[in-house]
Amino acid sequence: MLFIGIDLGTSSTKLLLVDEKGAILNTVTKDYELYFPQPGWSEQNCEDWWSACLEGIPELLKGFDASDVAGIGAGGQMHGLVALDKDDNVIRPAILWNDGRTFAEVDYLNNVIGKDKLSEYTANIAFAGFTAPKILWMKKNEPENFAKIAKIMLPKDYINYKLTGVHCCDYSDASGILLLDVEHKCWSKEMMEICGVSECQLPKLFESFEVVGHLTSCAAKALGLSESVVVVAGAGDNAAAAVGTGVVGEGGCNISLGTSGTVFMSSRSFGVDPNNALHSFAHADGGYHLMGVVLSAASCNKWLCDDILKNEDYAFEQKDITDDKLGENRVFFLPYLMGERSPINDTDARAAFVGMSMDTTRSDMVQAVLEGVAFAIRDSFEVAKKLGLDIPKSKICGGGSKSPLWRKIFANVLNIPLETVKTEQGPGYGAAMLAMVGCGKFSTVQEASDALIEVSSVTYPDAELAEKYEKQYRKFALIYPALKSVFPKLK
Ligand code: XUL
Repeated sequence: MLFIGIDLGTSSTKLLLVDEKGAILNTVTKDYELYFPQPGWSEQNCEDWWSACLEGIPELLKGFDASDVAGIGAGGQMHGLVALDKDDNVIRPAILWNDGRTFAEVDYLNNVIGKDKLSEYTANIAFAGFTAPKILWMKKNEPENFAKIAKIMLPKDYINYKLTGVHCCDYSDASGILLLDVEHKCWSKEMMEICGVSECQLPKLFESFEVVGHLTSCAAKALGLSESVVVVAGAGDNAAAAVGTGVVGEGGCNISLGTSGTVFMSSRSFGVDPNNALHSFAHADGGYHLMGVVLSAASCNKWLCDDILKNEDYAFEQKDITDDKLGENRVFFLPYLMGERSPINDTDARAAFVGMSMDTTRSDMVQAVLEGVAFAIRDSFEVAKKLGLDIPKSKICGGGSKSPLWRKIFANVLNIPLETVKTEQGPGYGAAMLAMVGCGKFSTVQEASDALIEVSSVTYPDAELAEKYEKQYRKFALIYPALKSVFPKLK
């Protein structure tokens, strides 16, 4: 039996072919455009995601027996608003998770409806990237488009729809819509009323490992697969990545360093951060998790190197950041290129280099970016610690985690050991594991994780360096409060 894991990311879709022992046989990546039609806006064409699968899956299967494929699972960028009309055509480009246009709607939800009510209905408050504020934005700003909506779904659900013809969503991803009563795993009637949508416009809910359907004959033909291939509901990318690093069940932690940076704390039982700084979402293993989200993580390094320094060789840019430089940088970087989610929830916040002098070097600035992202993740750790959560160690995954230097910075800023896993492939591997469960290869996600996930490296903190970074973090923590009132005036 073979399984396909789809990671529907923000810059590309990555496809994995996995055998029943969990070995990765092949990978294919298809890039696509991300559009910023106005400052702070972020959109993508849903058709580009499907084209990536249409082109990528046959390529992935080249040299393998396609009739061995038993199941497909997808993990996808969360919160993106995909709206379909009555004929299942996409109404407008998807408004993505890192889009900041909905500040007025977030203000309305949090301050007029009220954070207490939102938290009671959904276990969360409104953040600009969440889907419900986007629905309200569309209602107000594009009433003709809003009137056409027959179905609302999330990015990976669009792929699942194209594969199976079923309008579906899993609980982990649905949690980030802000229409789900996360604790009871059902759509919130109050939130539907607030957003002006009815249940028939929302997708059918599933656990991530549940089968939503089989390939339509059209999809099977286009992909060169059999109609008997099973498609599971899949998960939001962070939940899928956590499955892929074995962070399931009680008390696990995973840090993902992709376009966004997240810290994901798994739990068997439902829990809420009383201040809602951390998201309270369902997990793909049937349980729950708390999560802090830094909107720009590896994307800060990519922005600095690719767009500003015009050099995509990241290792080259990091080569002068020797051990003696760590914990000593006098340059600090606020990584808020797209505003910030956790814990400050500020769409106006912007990135800033602070502390430069005539002797500041290019590599000090690169280092400041790597450190600034780690400090921003530490902000969410601080919230978790205050809630009494014990995080003695964490897994780390995503593109940014491939840099040993960045892992070292993170381990010392957080002062915990960080583990990577052998089959690290971000959300795609977790999504393939969900497909294995859906096909009956394993009876639970925990069982799949126990059988397939193996630690490959551990980065330990160094007491002296961690102490230096503690002092650096305290300095970093002064910067945002000092600039907070300036950012709205820069608009
Ligand atoms: C999570 C979030 C991001 C996206 C990235 O809440 O918005 O991590 O899922 O794809």
